[in-house]
Amino acid sequence: MNDVLPDEVGGWQRIERAYARTMSLHGFREVRTPYVEPTALFVRAIGEVTDIVEKEMYSFEHHGEALTLRPEGTAGAARAYVEHAVHAREPVTRWWYMGPMFRAERPQRGRYRQFSQLGAEIFGDEGPGCDAEMIDMLVGFLGELAIPGVEVFVNSLGGPDTRARYREALVQHLTPRSAELSAESQRRLATNPLRILDSKDERDAAAVRDAPELHEFLDEADRRHFDRLRAALDALGTPYTVDARLVRGLDYYTRTLFEIRGAYEKLGAGSTLLGGGRYDRMVSDLGGTQVPAIGFAAGLERLLIASDVTAASNTVDAIVAPLGDAAISAALVLARELRRSGVRCDVDTRGSSLKSQLRRANALGAKVALILGESELSGNVVQVKDLEARSQDLVPRDQTVRTVAARIAAGPPASGDPVAPPSRREDPAQ
Ligand code: HAM
Repeated sequence: MNDVLPDEVGGWQRIERAYARTMSLHGFREVRTPYVEPTALFVRAIGEVTDIVEKEMYSFEHHGEALTLRPEGTAGAARAYVEHAVHAREPVTRWWYMGPMFRAERPQRGRYRQFSQLGAEIFGDEGPGCDAEMIDMLVGFLGELAIPGVEVFVNSLGGPDTRARYREALVQHLTPRSAELSAESQRRLATNPLRILDSKDERDAAAVRDAPELHEFLDEADRRHFDRLRAALDALGTPYTVDARLVRGLDYYTRTLFEIRGAYEKLGAGSTLLGGGRYDRMVSDLGGTQVPAIGFAAGLERLLIASDVTAASNTVDAIVAPLGDAAISAALVLARELRRSGVRCDVDTRGSSLKSQLRRANALGAKVALILGESELSGNVVQVKDLEARSQDLVPRDQTVRTVAARIAAGPPASGDPVAPPSRREDPAQ
């Protein structure tokens, strides 16, 4: 679990803002669910025999209630959807969320015990069109973050009957080879054999190489759904690869499954940027009516590593530099007016020398220094030093805020920020 220090927070915020913008362009609304839910919710939704439920949940008992820090966002979103009978108000619901998730995994680059996810869920749309829209939206979002080498992998798991039949065939194929499997997969053979398909262990990969393919087991409706998804992606011009071995680590998926990988050099080949899929049975399994659903989640830390996003380095636009004790309160008044006009500024109230205040202006990335000494106070003027143009003017006090606000507004925008800065407010005092 990591601290995110102020130097890094800017990068996080840029990704969060870009995500919120993408979501609103696609008609999603933000939902915020609790970080703690009953343990039974995750066991039921994610599946008893999954890495998350078996090994990775932070669970505890409180006054006899079994609780868990959420390892992911889908179960909580579906619980909220059912609990508030949202289906009765809207035929289709599009929700997004972001926030911390908790999994007790072995930490490594891009894998943490508290990590942040950007996610979204669509309830009430069964068609493969919205699956394609979601995948295409995500490719666009990763493009906006300038993440290199983005690749989309899709698969279809079919419905529960398909999976049951496939599971049987896979067990039949693997049982005679069980001695060659890793210890973990030997155990999985009895509990969750599908997970052996995406094991990273060489021995398992060899054993599943000529195993039957899930696609051979899809029924007619599942196959049509998958074909239509592929046709929609083709029509959108979104490249993808069908990966028949893609199963993913959560048990709730039905039909469409996808993963997006990229930035291999920075993240390593195993790291997925985001993953998602359809879970058409979760809402009814949690006690709701039969409502189909699809969603995804991306690891924010991984996006950050992959995208090299850095925040604009300037913390303030201006500093107000009082020289001598008498100027300090005048400087506070001036700074207050500047802030009301939307100019971010810092005032040094320690009685520092001009040299030290200008050094601080530089460290904070200020474009302008407003100097207020005894002579400026008595002349009712302010010395406005443009730190970029290296010029200096004496500006009448009553024109200072307007002049500085205009100069800051005319300056170059923070480079590459996907979201425009908030518009500057008029200063009522001007
Ligand atoms: P997931 O594949 O478990 O899916 O996680 C989604 C993404 O979260 C991963 O691709 C990865 O980027 C990030 N992630 C997962 N674990 C960690 C970790 N320990 N450290 C850093 N990042 C991590 C889900 O969570 C599903 N709820 C996605 C979904 C939504 N499916 C349908 N709707």
